[in-house]
Amino acid sequence: MNALNPEKQPLLALVNRETPLDPTAYEQKGGWRGVRRALAMSPAEVIEEVTKSKLRGRGGAGFSTGMKWSFVPKEPANERRKYIVANGDEMEPGTFKDRILVEGHPLQLIEGMIISAYAIQAAYGVIFLRGEYHLGLERLQQAVEQARAAGWLGKNILGSGFDFDIHVHPSAGRYICGEETALLTALEGRRANPRSKPPFPQIGGLWGAPTVVNNIETFSNIPHILANGFEWYLGLSACEDGGTKLYGVSGRAKRPGVFELPLGTTLGVILNECAGGMQDGYKLRAFLPGGASTAFLGAEHADIVMDYPTPEKAGSRLGTGLAILLDDRTSPIGMIRNLEHFFAQESCGWCTPCRDGLPWVERLLIEIEEGRGTEQDLARLKDAARLIGPMGRTFCAHAPGAIAPLDSGLKLFAEDFAQHIRRSTHTDRAGDVSERA
Ligand code: NAI
Repeated sequence: MNALNPEKQPLLALVNRETPLDPTAYEQKGGWRGVRRALAMSPAEVIEEVTKSKLRGRGGAGFSTGMKWSFVPKEPANERRKYIVANGDEMEPGTFKDRILVEGHPLQLIEGMIISAYAIQAAYGVIFLRGEYHLGLERLQQAVEQARAAGWLGKNILGSGFDFDIHVHPSAGRYICGEETALLTALEGRRANPRSKPPFPQIGGLWGAPTVVNNIETFSNIPHILANGFEWYLGLSACEDGGTKLYGVSGRAKRPGVFELPLGTTLGVILNECAGGMQDGYKLRAFLPGGASTAFLGAEHADIVMDYPTPEKAGSRLGTGLAILLDDRTSPIGMIRNLEHFFAQESCGWCTPCRDGLPWVERLLIEIEEGRGTEQDLARLKDAARLIGPMGRTFCAHAPGAIAPLDSGLKLFAEDFAQHIRRSTHTDRAGDVSERA
C-alpha cells in the first residue's frame, strides 16, 4: 500500500527540478488561475478565503495564515508602504522541503506572493533565501525576470491597477536569519539579531512598515486555495486544519526524501509507505518529528498524527514536518551533542542564556560522550535544560528550540546517560568541566 496520491499533491504536481516551467507553460497547465481569481475579488475577500482554508504556517510554528494577514493595517498600497517577505532561510537540520519548491517550481511561490501582496496591499516583496541554495537562487532570479517580462510582476498586473514586484535576497548564511525578526534586521543591512515581539512584523516589520513574513511552503499553497476554493483545500487534509504537507525523513531510511501527504499523516505512514522503511539491520529507536528544534519521541509514538496543537488538543508539535530518525545503532548522546554543537555555534550572541548556556551544554555533552562525565555534569545538564529552555528567557525561540531535543533526550535516553557516567574514567568527582579542558 502507498499513501501517496498523485491526485492530491498540488504543491509537487508541477515541480520539475531539471527544467522548471516558464510562465506560458505554467498557464497551459492551469497556473495563474489563483491570481486571476484573487484580483477579481476584494483584498478582504482574499483574506477571508485563506482564513476559511485553515492554512497554518508551514515554517514550523503553525500560526493561522489568514489571521496573520488580517492583522495588517488596511490602507491601499499607494497610501502606505507595506512588504511581503518569503522566508526561505531553510537552515533547520534535516529540513529540505523549501529547496525542492524553489528549485523545481519557483512560479508557484511567485504566484502565491502576488496574491498575498494583493490581500494586504503591499507593493514590494522579498524572497530571503538560504545562502547555500545556489541553484534555487538562479532559478528564482530567472523566474522573477520571466514573470516580470510576462506581465505577472510590475505595474498594473492583469490590468487590475495593482503594482507589485519581487527582489531575491541570498542570506549571508546564519541559522538565526530564519527567525523572522532577525531576518528583517538582516534585510535592513544590520547584524541579524532578533527583536522583541510585539510589535509583530504585521504592524512593525521591515524598516518599521507592516510586513507579512511567511514560509516558502506556506506561500506555495496560496495559488491552489484561490484557484480551487477553501472547501476543496480543507478536503485535502486528514485533520481539522487544511491542506497537504510536505513531510519527509532523513536518517537510516531506505529512501529518505520529501513527500506530499494529507496534513495529519503519521510518521509510520511517512517512513514505511513512502520512505521504504528502515534500512536493513537498523531499527527505529526514536525521532525528532520536525527538524532539530523539536522534542524526541520514542519509536512507539510513530502512529501519532503529525499535525499542529490546538487549544483542545496537544498535537505532535509538528515543526517543519521533516523527521530526523534515530536508529538503534547510533548513540543518542552523540546525536544530541552534534545538535547542540550546531545550536551553540548558531546563537546570535544577544541573550546570555543562549550565548553562554549553549556552549556550556555542548561541553558537558562532550565530557559525557567521551567518557569523562560525572554525576555532577549530568545534574548540571539537567539544570541547564531547566534554566535555558522555557520560552520568555530570551528574545527568540533559538534557545528553547535548542533545548527541546536535549530535555526530551535526557528523559528518553536516561539509561544511556547513566551508563556513560558509570563507565566514566574521570576520578575527580568534584572537578568542574571547565577545569578539565
Ligand atoms: P512564533 O510562534 O513566535 O511565531 C510564528 C508566526 O506567528 C510569526 O510569523 C509571528 O509573527 C506570528 N505570531 C505569533 N503570535 C502572534 C501574535 N500574538 N500576533 C500576531 N502574530 C503572531 O514562532 P517563531 O519563533 O516564528 O518560529 C518558531 C518555529 O520555527 C519552531 O516551531 C521551529 O520548528 C521553526 N523553525 C523552522 C526553521 C526552518 O528552517 N524552517 C528553522 C528554525 C526553526
